[in-house]
Amino acid sequence: MGSGRALPVMAAGPSRFVMAEAHWIPRPADVNEIPALEQLIRRSARGLSRDHYSDAEVEAAIAHVFGVDSELIADRSYLLIEEGGVPIACGGWSRRRTLFGGDQFAGRDDALLEPARDAARVRAFFVDPNHARRGLGVALLQACEAAAAAAGFRALELMSTLPGVDFYAANGFVAGEPIAHDAGGIALRFVPMRKLL
Ligand SMILES: CC(C)(COP(=O)(O)OP(=O)(O)OC[C@H]1O[C@@H](n2cnc3c(N)ncnc32)[C@H](O)[C@@H]1OP(=O)(O)O)[C@@H](O)C(=O)NCCC(=O)NCCS
Repeated sequence: MGSGRALPVMAAGPSRFVMAEAHWIPRPADVNEIPALEQLIRRSARGLSRDHYSDAEVEAAIAHVFGVDSELIADRSYLLIEEGGVPIACGGWSRRRTLFGGDQFAGRDDALLEPARDAARVRAFFVDPNHARRGLGVALLQACEAAAAAAGFRALELMSTLPGVDFYAANGFVAGEPIAHDAGGIALRFVPMRKLL
């Protein structure tokens, strides 16, 4: 079990257990942290995608799709987890229509979603390869889900990378039909996924 897992600990009073996060505490990212987050995203994509994408596909994704969407930073809905002052995981949610892609991605629509009708977006989850499978992704996802639910949303949607599919499926998302997304002439396979809150 990793040191960051949620551990059952005794609360005050007899026979009462609560779940406490040991130390993964997501917080909103600030605009001055974008360069460090861009580095983390590149590190994550290059280190954790090799079983699913070729080197050329990973580099095309980094150049054309993966990255920070500064609109989420402004909305305070892009979260990070840090260790020793360095971000080791990031991911967010959005009340806006854009489904995926960083600032360099052209297919954007910042129109606000309607919580009663639309699904909130889950956006750009990237974990440092040295910290994979330690519960960071789940900690971020739970924080996003709670915030989206508190904003009135009843469903979540995302466009997953191939390496992300098992992670999201383990967290209750259902996969749709895979798509091929053109990234500078290279077809990237992505998978739309959805979850009811
Ligand atoms: C997908 C990603 C965010 C998961 O982050 P993580 O912190 O390693 O995930 P967690 O430790 O919270 O995993 C939670 C559960 O999800 C599932 N899971 C996570 N990664 C998995 C993998 N590579 N293969 C199979 N199941 C996986 C497991 O059930 C896991 O629980 P377990 O470790 O007890 O078996 C991370 O692998 C990543 O950054 N990948 C590269 C970037 C990327 O493609 N991101 C998706 C963008 S849409």
